[in-house]
Amino acid sequence: TPVPVVAIDGPSASGKGTVGALVARILGFEHLDSGALYRIVALAALRKGVALDDETSLASIAAALPARFEDGLVLLDGDDVTEAIRSEACSVGASRVAVLPAVRDALFWRQRSYRTGSGLVAEGRDMGSVIFPDAGVKIFLTASVEARAERRYKQLIDKGMAAKMDDLLKDLYERDARDSQRAVAPLKRGDDAVLLDTSGITVQQAVDFVIERASSLR
Ligand code: C5P
Repeated sequence: TPVPVVAIDGPSASGKGTVGALVARILGFEHLDSGALYRIVALAALRKGVALDDETSLASIAAALPARFEDGLVLLDGDDVTEAIRSEACSVGASRVAVLPAVRDALFWRQRSYRTGSGLVAEGRDMGSVIFPDAGVKIFLTASVEARAERRYKQLIDKGMAAKMDDLLKDLYERDARDSQRAVAPLKRGDDAVLLDTSGITVQQAVDFVIERASSLR
């Protein structure tokens, strides 16, 4: 039998990362943060001075990405880039390189290769639609743009970083638009995905919801 997959898709700052990591730990499954891959491609490109619309060069970077996830850290060329890929430049950069079909193709098999062990929790924009269409559980995790901006605001302030609510809202609107309107693998809830709106619920409630759906997989 194939390795079971829990696919969690949704917009930026919807809580996918937090929920996905907790669900993976509870189930004893592997965890794929596919957004991190797009962020690493953007960071590698920025470091090399490659333009974020140079599809051919970006696809080569993506195809030979010297990146690893290890002990909760993200490594690029052995460098710890866990924090660096969360920067505003990498958030915007990731959503720009992600519109390019050759970049998405170059990351296709790498993403599939995380389907090992007793199961996989995969989160992103197209986990249930493109990368793991046969996933046993598909969740579309979302929250209002205000709730998402507030969470991001809190995260940044907690880290001692500067944040302005207006800028965060504007950035989320722009990224939502770019993710939903692109031609390839746009962000969209498939008919087979269960909608989970986390605007008014706690992380624990969201985790419980996904675990309950996933109980049939074990
Ligand atoms: O999830 P996260 O915000 O880290 O993803 C960064 C960007 O990568 C997203 O804005 C989106 O454009 C892109 N992405 C994607 N497909 C995925 C995961 C992320 O296009 N499966």
